[in-house]
Amino acid sequence: MTEILPHRADLIHRPRRLRRTPAIRRMVRETSLSTDDLIYPLFVRHGHDVQLEIPSMPGQYQWSIDRLPGEVGTAAELGIPAVIPFGIPATKDSIGSENFASDGIVQQAIRAIKDAVPELVVITDVCMCEYTDHGHCGIVENGRILNDPTLEVLGRVAVSHAEAGADMVAPSGMMDGMVAAIRQALDEAGFPEVGILSYAAKYASSFYGPFRDAAEGAPKFGDRKSHQMDPANVREAVREVALDIAEGADILMVKPALPYLDVIRVVHDNFDLPLAAYNVSGEYAMIKAAAQNGWLDERGVVLEALTSMKRAGADLILTYFAKEAAEWLMNA
Ligand code: PBG
Repeated sequence: MTEILPHRADLIHRPRRLRRTPAIRRMVRETSLSTDDLIYPLFVRHGHDVQLEIPSMPGQYQWSIDRLPGEVGTAAELGIPAVIPFGIPATKDSIGSENFASDGIVQQAIRAIKDAVPELVVITDVCMCEYTDHGHCGIVENGRILNDPTLEVLGRVAVSHAEAGADMVAPSGMMDGMVAAIRQALDEAGFPEVGILSYAAKYASSFYGPFRDAAEGAPKFGDRKSHQMDPANVREAVREVALDIAEGADILMVKPALPYLDVIRVVHDNFDLPLAAYNVSGEYAMIKAAAQNGWLDERGVVLEALTSMKRAGADLILTYFAKEAAEWLMNA
């Protein structure tokens, strides 16, 4: 034993030297989390003076349009550069007509946000599930979700968001060809400068549970496994991302985030476009529940989780913790 255990004087490599003081640790820190990286998702609904807490997402609310300027104003003051509003429509039908109505809930939200804080980047989710009476992400016929007829609707939705003032649209329905269809629709409508943040690798995840309460968009039958990805696959994510880039995506996204850090890493290592991670509703709910029980320290866990997403290769993070994280980073 004695010959393989080095004498203390022979211990040349001491990694702890670089952990000795806060300033040294700060100098050698490899990953930094910044408020600049954060995108704040919020839920908007019809009505007046509404701030309705979402039971499975404590601290997150459905806001009426008149309450939106206050909330996004706070986010902007904290330094958060972007928001992504999700809408709960007044009525749902088979093709989700409010989704592309000029006075639809999201179109109203975009205008209200841009009026209140013009410099805030507004990104919009482009999907059908919150707007259709069947709760699916596309046109449904005989219980099947049709791909190509859905593309035309997604193009109309994207153009209506651009007309309302969206800076970027984010197709989330995992239809084949959705990025190309939206790019073409935007260009033809005179919006070549509106960007596409593609939910390129979106998994059929059980971590979306609380979001489906929040956005009232759960499927009325079946599931999303015929379009969202199998959680077991990672090579398939590379293919999905390559296709979205070929179709004209400007920013890529992997969703969810924490259970898919390996996917974030692979996409980051293989492609040069900015990469976003979606820290989804279930990831938020788990931490909130544990923190409310006193089982976890919320600040520590949230900053560690968000830093892990950056370390894995994400440039941007969509997170319901955006406001808290911005405050903590300010006082770090
Ligand atoms: C689809 C959409 C979903 C989420 C974002 N966009 C739900 C789904 O795909 O079922 C989930 C986000 C979250 O869980 O935080 N419009």
